[in-house]
Amino acid sequence: MVKDFPHFVNRRYNDINGPLMDNAVNDLHDQRWKDVRSVLAPTFTSGRLKQMNGLINECCDNLVSNLGKLADEQVDVEGQKLFRTVTLDIIASTFFGTKIDSQNDPKNAFTKKASEAFNFSLLDPIFIILFLFPWALPLAKKLGMSAVKKENLDFFVKNINEIIKLRTESNVVRRDFIQLMLKSMKSADPNGLEKAPAISEDLPATVTDQTADIISHELSVGSAHEKSLSNANYKLSLDEVVAQAVVFFLAGFETTASALTFLTYSLAVNSDIQERLRQSIEEVMQDREEPDYDAIAQMQYLDACVNEALRLYPPVSRTERECNEDWEYKGLKIEKGSVIAVPIFAIQRDPEFWPNPEVFDPERFSYENKKNIKPYTFDTFGQGPRNCIGMRELCIYLPIIKMVMVHILRNFRIAPTAKTEIPLTLSDGAGFVYPKNGAWVRLERL
Ligand code: HEM
Repeated sequence: MVKDFPHFVNRRYNDINGPLMDNAVNDLHDQRWKDVRSVLAPTFTSGRLKQMNGLINECCDNLVSNLGKLADEQVDVEGQKLFRTVTLDIIASTFFGTKIDSQNDPKNAFTKKASEAFNFSLLDPIFIILFLFPWALPLAKKLGMSAVKKENLDFFVKNINEIIKLRTESNVVRRDFIQLMLKSMKSADPNGLEKAPAISEDLPATVTDQTADIISHELSVGSAHEKSLSNANYKLSLDEVVAQAVVFFLAGFETTASALTFLTYSLAVNSDIQERLRQSIEEVMQDREEPDYDAIAQMQYLDACVNEALRLYPPVSRTERECNEDWEYKGLKIEKGSVIAVPIFAIQRDPEFWPNPEVFDPERFSYENKKNIKPYTFDTFGQGPRNCIGMRELCIYLPIIKMVMVHILRNFRIAPTAKTEIPLTLSDGAGFVYPKNGAWVRLERL
């Protein structure tokens, strides 16, 4: 499917979140998908992302101070709940230039709406429709059904619109994602915006390769077709900017929180690996007070630990492609319109590709061993030109996960508690993998 990408450009037709969200890159089809995705790619070079170090470290300092209190009180901490708040603070700051403190103020509207947006259940009729009766989608749409509750979606759309309006009217320039996207926006928009403000270009994008993730990037394969996607002249409409901002938020929030949860859990129940990781981090940090992208890029063992946690616990359990023409592979005929599912979770626990698959073993991703990993068996971020934009074009999210972990490991030891399940019971809620009963740990000051 990666090699014959022109036959597998799209996922299943799924325009159920309303006309505005039909503009989101994950839902777009064919040429429009190519146009929008190709605009997003050069926008988010990691050289520019480097400018966000300070914003991320600020949220992490807050996290460390909060965790300090929990450590002193010897309170058990549930990973998903904890990391949702810090992820939200980081996303609000780096994406929307909005400073919130959901770690200390869980009742604020942003935190509440984000949590509700993900509070769906497998038994929700909409998911039965989505996964079992996709041909019923147009009817569901007519009935006004939506995968994310309309009021929550409206909340984000309204907020993002207000931020964009403020930026364009006041010429305020911030180093966040909204600003980066505005730079790729049509200068005369039918919605009345005159022109997007110029973005500060004072930091050249010289560190792209170094700061992008070291291993995942290599294992999530692109293809020769990728270059032909490029349409750098395409400009986003206001609706397209808003839709991408909403989807980046929704797609990034839960996945990143899950990745941090599973990594923290894995380190709690593997204390020897945790100690080795802490030492390897200190070797890089030396006199640095705060981590930055350059430091993170040198932390190979941290990279291996993150990837191994994401292999064992991929936050997204499956993906799919729709075949747009009759196609044949080794005698297997796939009819036009068929949907091919990729069972990410199952592949990454298959003993044929990953010996002792249930064991957390970062050595699988060491510099020496990674070349032995069979292509397409590490699918946490999908594969090919339509893989996860957060992993590739934005290439910021793995560095964020790593920066949070560096802050935690330099200040605390992560220990299991009486509530820690070994092994962890997992639940797959509509394609997202969760710890069913929570992933509980305790933090001890170093
Ligand atoms: C650990 C974190 C993450 C994981 C595990 C993850 C996983 C995935 C997977 C499996 C896919 C489907 C890929 C395919 O079909 O081949 C995907 C697509 C996507 N992801 Fe992520 N993701 C993560 C973080 C993010 C973040 C932070 C963002 C946004 C800022 C994001 C935005 C997207 C978008 C927009 C798509 C659709 C891309 C397209 O259709 O062109 N993801 N992600």
